[in-house]
Amino acid sequence: MRQYERTVFCGAVTTAQLEKNVALCGWVHKRRDFGNLIFVDLRDRSGLIQLVFNPTTSPQAHADAHALRSEFVIAVTGVVTPRAPGMINSDLPTGQWEVQVESLTILNKAKVLPFSPEDTQVDEEMRLKYRYIDLRRPVMHENLALRSKVLFAAREFFIKEDFWEIETPILTKNTPEGAREFLVPSRGAKGEFYALPQSPQMYKQLLMASGIERYFQIARCFRDENTRADRQPEFTQLDLEMSFVQESDVIDLMERLFAFLWKRIFAQELPIPFMRMTYDRAFAEYGNDKPDMRFENTIHDCTPLFKNTELSFLHAVLDKGGKIGGIHLANTQFTRSEIDGWSDRVKELGGQGLLWVRIKEDGSLESPVAKFLPSTFFESACQVFSGLGPNSILFMVAGEYKPTWELLGKLRLALGEQLGLIPAGQFKFLWVTDFPLFEYDEQSKQWSAVHHPFTSPQAGWETQELGQMKARAYDVILNGIELGGGSIRIHDAQMQDKVFDLIGLTKQQAQKKFGFLLEAMELGFPPQGGLAIGVDRFIMLLTGSKSIREVIAFPKTASAYDLLMESPTIVPEEQLKDYGLCVIRKKEK
Ligand code: AMO
Repeated sequence: MRQYERTVFCGAVTTAQLEKNVALCGWVHKRRDFGNLIFVDLRDRSGLIQLVFNPTTSPQAHADAHALRSEFVIAVTGVVTPRAPGMINSDLPTGQWEVQVESLTILNKAKVLPFSPEDTQVDEEMRLKYRYIDLRRPVMHENLALRSKVLFAAREFFIKEDFWEIETPILTKNTPEGAREFLVPSRGAKGEFYALPQSPQMYKQLLMASGIERYFQIARCFRDENTRADRQPEFTQLDLEMSFVQESDVIDLMERLFAFLWKRIFAQELPIPFMRMTYDRAFAEYGNDKPDMRFENTIHDCTPLFKNTELSFLHAVLDKGGKIGGIHLANTQFTRSEIDGWSDRVKELGGQGLLWVRIKEDGSLESPVAKFLPSTFFESACQVFSGLGPNSILFMVAGEYKPTWELLGKLRLALGEQLGLIPAGQFKFLWVTDFPLFEYDEQSKQWSAVHHPFTSPQAGWETQELGQMKARAYDVILNGIELGGGSIRIHDAQMQDKVFDLIGLTKQQAQKKFGFLLEAMELGFPPQGGLAIGVDRFIMLLTGSKSIREVIAFPKTASAYDLLMESPTIVPEEQLKDYGLCVIRKKEK
């Protein structure tokens, strides 16, 4: 005989079950023991229902129910009855009914839990160590349910668009996304290693060479880089690639995907096409390549306002070719100590200091450098900033263009957050295009590809300086977070050779690393392009979560540690020998 039955889920009890026998399973959420009557809120994935253990209904079930404690797993049978009028709980979808229990089976006794799934203030380490308890919380269930719904809908969209879902290997060779890779030792070829894929980039390009035309995959990716709120060492991409396409084909398809998801998930129309902006404009106005478009307060170049300034510290900056960038905040009533706070913030962000000018009620200027400002300052500033008037304040920072604008970008976001300038519940998509093809790293004194070295350069690159060349790449941004990125790829071996050469890869190095792709490029290789969306980031934004850890079932800690499984672990010497490995252990202190 079965130990338990289930005829209905707890949260799904409705009038349809009224006065009927039901069988339920789940966790003891709460228990109130009044001696003669015992009430238990029974919980399963669908919600809660109140159970009543009454000695007159079942003396045995009532006697056994005294032993019940939080998080015991039980099965019951009983009859659904209406609650007494004064006992109705209108906060609960099943709050009008209760189940008069006739039989109780305790399936699993729980010790006192390290924390209750109802606690909201649990330390994250505890949450990750006991993730299965943490995941019992309704909000975590909602996050995982939404993730499942989005992935299902995305699959439906791509299949309808004639894409094929194809899995690519996890044990592979290093891929070109620029992060450090995770290595897996080979037992067969001792001393040799597989790399885990940073993305399916190489394989999807080879699939295009296979004539697949339209590929997608919900792909696990692995990058050994510092974890952050929006980064995990192991994460998921919604990855796609198409043959014989241009930028606009990929962009249009993605917009249709997002509109489809919006309709499916929120039953709402998502306005498409999304806004578009070049990388240069994004940097000039927002100080980064992923502008948060939910609020204004953009960066403006204030250099002309200080052309003939007597202020020596500004002179020094301008003489070295530096610039002055500023942000306008309208209708603000900062106190002096608040302004000092922002000034400290600028210093924390690496700036020399904050130059501020306030327009007082009477139109006069207040600033530590007020007496050095020309009498025409207000009029000139009105040419740069719109809407300048009483109670406006300008926050300005001077220095070398790139670091200063990056700093202003961070300052803008901090101001936006702290002054409540970012409206809640908005989704602002944006495409950033025309990225530089290469970037120079001061530390390694090397040029590298901004996206990856298979990204096609824009026309005219042959005659341009490295820093001027633009890529046929595009990123999709949502609320200031890079959601996805992609490009039109190089499909010509000579062009690919040249790009490798420009980033300092010798012919031998290129051959060793990517020889298979270079060869494929000479054996019938179609023009192609694609993109990958970070699934975890997308779900994080949709659920309004602060970190992608909230939308991944079993995430790692900031130091890439799995607290639940306690991994990585030390491996026995014997096992290491099988792989031909010898570990140099740190000496105990
Ligand atoms: P890219 O490296 O830009 O492109 O990655 C695409 C998207 O993946 C997400 N992402 C991450 N999410 C969580 N944790 C991480 N460590 C992490 N790293 C990246 C981001 C990012 O926008 N092969 C190319 C795509 C292509 O060209 O088609 C690629 O991987 O949301």
